[in-house]
Amino acid sequence: MKSISLTRPIIEDEMVEAVTTALKNEYFLRGKSVELFEEEFAKYIGVKYAIAVNSGTSALYLSLLALGIGEGDKVLTTPATFIATANAIVYTGAEPFFVDITLDTYNIDTVKIKEKLEEDNGAIKAVIPVHLYGYPCDMGEIYKIAREYDIKIVEDACQAHGAIYKGKKVGAFGDTAAFSFYSTKNMVVAGDGGMVITDEKEIADKISSLRDVGRDKDIQGVHKYIGYTSRMNTINAAFGRVQLKYLDAWNQKRGEIARRYMEELEDIGDIILPPEQSSQYISVWHLFVIRTKHRDELKKFLDKKGIQCGIHYQLPIHLQPPYLKMGYHEGMLPESEKWAKEVLSIPMHPELTDDEIEYVAFCIREFFKNKKRKGKWM
Ligand SMILES: Cc1ncc(COP(=O)(O)O)c(C=O)c1O
Repeated sequence: MKSISLTRPIIEDEMVEAVTTALKNEYFLRGKSVELFEEEFAKYIGVKYAIAVNSGTSALYLSLLALGIGEGDKVLTTPATFIATANAIVYTGAEPFFVDITLDTYNIDTVKIKEKLEEDNGAIKAVIPVHLYGYPCDMGEIYKIAREYDIKIVEDACQAHGAIYKGKKVGAFGDTAAFSFYSTKNMVVAGDGGMVITDEKEIADKISSLRDVGRDKDIQGVHKYIGYTSRMNTINAAFGRVQLKYLDAWNQKRGEIARRYMEELEDIGDIILPPEQSSQYISVWHLFVIRTKHRDELKKFLDKKGIQCGIHYQLPIHLQPPYLKMGYHEGMLPESEKWAKEVLSIPMHPELTDDEIEYVAFCIREFFKNKKRKGKWM
């Protein structure tokens, strides 16, 4: 039986060689490769500074700290994301203030951001828009609102390396942005890794110090802050530098695969396809996510056909156990609650073949045909 994986990182010889060279010639930590990776990543996005860290979660957390977020503050974000987005807020002592999504894009509803800010009495200090599945948020509107209400923006671009909003790469709109190189992402390192980007020197310097135990880079032996051990190691940076060279070609391939899926699946009326691309919103298709009321059954069916699918995510964050304990409850964010019940990620990675795409589409069609034939609609 065929077996089609949901995702697969690509490892070329060039990447392994880069790691070996770095191991033999550089320090494990603070090696030259880290600095070069930072420079190249900043240039790729089109910002002044990039600071390599040990995960996307650290990138978010250190961003918030550097922007002065802490106890007594509230930070807006959506519950329709990976739990790490909200955890980063909790780590600072601030409170995550969840805003619902729009089901058209699965991204934060900008009208609701404004409503929250209107209701608030000044405790909201920042917003974390998440470019979910690689599809850009409406950064123009978010930027306008943030300036009007004087709040900071930390973009969660952990799933959106290279996505473009109105001609500019996502990540370049916020006060800072966080990227993850976790092993399912569009580009990876050899383990966990992340990057913060910013145009502000002061913020870049603070994050650079915070990730390195608060070290003062100018005065030997002095630690300016209570920092963390959140550095990216040299091996990961060496690996990531080569991955970055391939990123655009891989993203393009993902785009072609998404178009093929769209063509193959558009006539199946029982599923909702991902938002269409336009010249204003260019997704990098981190995941290809369909939506159906019959999600769990379809997933089981595809599993049996050797097609690995995923659920991103099973619960909106406000319904995860630690958040329920904080007082969030069901019914607070209906669009996100519906989203979590219906989304299904089908295989998406640059090496997916035409045959595999056709097979996945064939099986999805077969599932709905069978269901109709048996008259088992619920
Ligand atoms: C949207 C989002 N935010 C944050 C993270 C956290 O990144 P990491 O797993 O590298 O800590 C991830 C990745 O898993 C993510 O997908």
